[in-house]
Amino acid sequence: MNAPARRPIDLLVHSAGELCTPTGSTARGGADLGRILCLADAAVAVDGGRIVAAGPTERLRREFAARAELDAAGGLLLPGFVDAHSHPVFAQGREDEFELRTQGASYVEIAERGGGILSSVRGVRAASKERLLEFLLPRLERFVDFGTTTVEAKSGYGLSLEAEMKSLEVLAAARARNILDIVPTFLGAHETPEEFRGRRPAYIELLLNECLPRVAESGLAEYADVFTESHVFDLDQSRLLMERARALGLGIRMHVDQLSALGGAELAAELGAASADHLEFVSERGIRALAESAVVPVLCPLVPLYLRVEREAPARSMIDAGLAVAISADYNPGSCPQQNLAEIMTWAALRYRMSAAECLTAATLNPACSLGRGAEIGSVEAGKRADLVIFSCANLRQLVSGFGSSPVRAVLVGGRVVRGGERVRRLPGPQ
Ligand code: NIG
Ligand code: FE
Repeated sequence: MNAPARRPIDLLVHSAGELCTPTGSTARGGADLGRILCLADAAVAVDGGRIVAAGPTERLRREFAARAELDAAGGLLLPGFVDAHSHPVFAQGREDEFELRTQGASYVEIAERGGGILSSVRGVRAASKERLLEFLLPRLERFVDFGTTTVEAKSGYGLSLEAEMKSLEVLAAARARNILDIVPTFLGAHETPEEFRGRRPAYIELLLNECLPRVAESGLAEYADVFTESHVFDLDQSRLLMERARALGLGIRMHVDQLSALGGAELAAELGAASADHLEFVSERGIRALAESAVVPVLCPLVPLYLRVEREAPARSMIDAGLAVAISADYNPGSCPQQNLAEIMTWAALRYRMSAAECLTAATLNPACSLGRGAEIGSVEAGKRADLVIFSCANLRQLVSGFGSSPVRAVLVGGRVVRGGERVRRLPGPQ
């Protein structure tokens, strides 16, 4: 009897020492956070930019006739990382503030002296669109270097209609380069700009009546965000802004309970936000409110350390309450200039007592769900986009205990091999 014909595919990624992935298309919390699939000597069949199958290398070789192969050579194969919180549209870094903090100044003190977010605002306003794009592109490449294949990216260092639109246009121009998948968020409510100092309500009027409608109409942002904190936007102001954003068709993400226990988590739950980010000061009540909602908590374990704030998010209590937490680098010039999610996994393990498996779900499927892309990315399963990363280490525990030190061997974005192309072998045969 003839063997059944092998199905032709574009690419077979084979010989991974271990494939680890969460499964499904919905965010996983509680005990499910750490329930992942691990498979030794694994392969992934890719066709038309999608995953066709994942399984043992030997079986997939029998089932598929690949036009090209990528040898994972015993490395660790994971879904591409999804970072659901970043602020990459800025000009210069803020190393001067880092030094002030090491000498004892606090983040809020620096902000109140006109530094912090406002110093990045001066940089963005002064830079042309072309210059901002030049700053942004290598940052996006660097996300890919570390295995991130989808990144949420916020504006928020413009704080005027013109400079915020410029930032979103720069993100759109970067998106067109297809470096990785970018999910744009409008963060005009990041701080009150200098020209509105002492007149925050007037700035809120500008956001409500001009910026938000213009952003929504432009289609340049999927989400709107707000920095809910007493020195920036309080609960009532945040509610007003987010309700308006929602009415205009934008999704909602929120910076909440980062520096004080204001009750932002409860507000995010009440509004049904896609994500509630930071949460270092979340209360018991806030955790309960989040547990009764579908809001994904996006935790940023490096930020308090970088800001020299003693408090860390009570991740273990959140997970025990059933929450489907995500972890993020929160890449930005002020509170965390780090993009390496593998390193963030180590910090999450150390600071939050999360297992390696929990860290993986929190860096892939859960952030994907917070971005409304759970059916599309976040796991290695047939039908999803072929966004993959291969690390040189042999297994997930090595990666998570290794502080981001394991070299990335290859990265695929939508089936395109964007790192590790030298490992691809084209095969002769029917085209
Ligand atoms: O996520 N919390 C507000 N936004 C950023 C920091 C922004 C900045 O300092 O530039 C954050 O930590
Ligand atoms: Fe942030």
